[in-house]
Amino acid sequence: MDKQRLIIKGGRRLEGEIALHGAKNSALPILSATVLCSSSECVINNCPRLSDVDAALRIASALGVKCRREGSTVITDASSLTSYEVPTSLMREMRSSIVFLGAILARTGRCRLSFPGGCELGPRPIDLHLSALRQMGAVINEEYGYLDCSCPKGLTGTEITLSFPSVGATENIMLAGVLAKGTTIIRNCAREPEINDLAGFLISCGGKIKGAGSDVIEIEGVKTLTGCVHRVMPDRIAAVTYLCCGAVTGGELIISGADAGHITAVTGIMKNMGCNIYSFGRDKIYITAHRRLNAPSTVRTMPYPGFPTDAQAILMALSTVSRGTGIFVENIFENRYRHVGELCRMGASIRVEGKVAIVEGTDSLCGADVMSTDLRGGAALVVAALCANGESRIGGLHHIDRGYENIEQNLRQVGADIKRI
Ligand code: UD1
Repeated sequence: MDKQRLIIKGGRRLEGEIALHGAKNSALPILSATVLCSSSECVINNCPRLSDVDAALRIASALGVKCRREGSTVITDASSLTSYEVPTSLMREMRSSIVFLGAILARTGRCRLSFPGGCELGPRPIDLHLSALRQMGAVINEEYGYLDCSCPKGLTGTEITLSFPSVGATENIMLAGVLAKGTTIIRNCAREPEINDLAGFLISCGGKIKGAGSDVIEIEGVKTLTGCVHRVMPDRIAAVTYLCCGAVTGGELIISGADAGHITAVTGIMKNMGCNIYSFGRDKIYITAHRRLNAPSTVRTMPYPGFPTDAQAILMALSTVSRGTGIFVENIFENRYRHVGELCRMGASIRVEGKVAIVEGTDSLCGADVMSTDLRGGAALVVAALCANGESRIGGLHHIDRGYENIEQNLRQVGADIKRI
């Protein structure tokens, strides 16, 4: 896998329509939530074919959940669980496996998994997850890199105030709270659309949840959950990626199966840069960019509804060839500028000082041999390569395959010269 490369010859104008897949960051907590359903099957539609989703399905299978895939639909049956342990190899494969903790604990009263550790974005602490679950009555032993969790008296709802609106911690508390005794209130919770999607899924399963999408969520615990049919929301970061692919090539694209309302923090900036973007029909976004774009105004990553950290690298790739100087401030993750060195190998002019990156727009980039440093950093290299003069060879594709289904087919179909070797 690591020997694979994307070979992109830049300079082709993209034109046509790209159908979006379901959101990775929504599918993962929803697959974890299926563990809570003690009767009936869950039918998850629009479940993307991604390596991270496969990892989540392997975790569910290891717990005894029967999983099968039919096209973009995944069907799970968690009526008889056989284990409360997430294999270490699977924890290592995907850091966000921690989102299984709340669900396994709530369903079985126990959970054992290894500490997720750091990742390519820097340290990824889970103190907020653990502190919240302890407040709900979980006993958690942390030793030798393992987390051994139990709740001898069951989980009990309580009022939890997060010091930061962590997406993963909010999800874990929701998963634990939905089957806990009494009422769980989460203050300063995450407001990302994926939280709404998870709440929608849990409500369809019989959960009682109010306030998802606001900064206070209230959950009234129920005794059992039953399976349901659910459609995963569109992947908003994949939408941003394809919009930037269109913009960087001066192209004209329609992204279908999208929700424009989820990405206004990004499209607002792209419009100011000179892109013409509008939504139409039920779920389509149209973009054209006829002239050289202006540098973005200062881009600060923030929790939703602010500018998403996952779109930072991708918009930065677009800014490398815009007119003027763009400033990026990364407020969410410590180590999220590793793509900068690779963009500079392609001729970009970017200086990083702490959490600030200063991008001096250049007339053009040139093709180069580059490596994806993480999922969105890899996507940024694809955006850059599409407009670079000559050929780029992008390695580290296992990062890109974590979050993009059929990226090369999608781009080739709208006119890109791209192949995987
Ligand atoms: C999720 C997304 C990820 C996105 C991120 C922020 C998934 C699978 N991943 O990750 O793509 O970039 O939201 O939008 O949905 N933190 C702590 N202690 C904790 C938890 C988090 O200090 O217990 C810090 C993190 O180090 C980070 C910040 O809070 O600096 C945000 O993290 P969080 O919102 O939890 O992100 P994830 O859920 O891991």
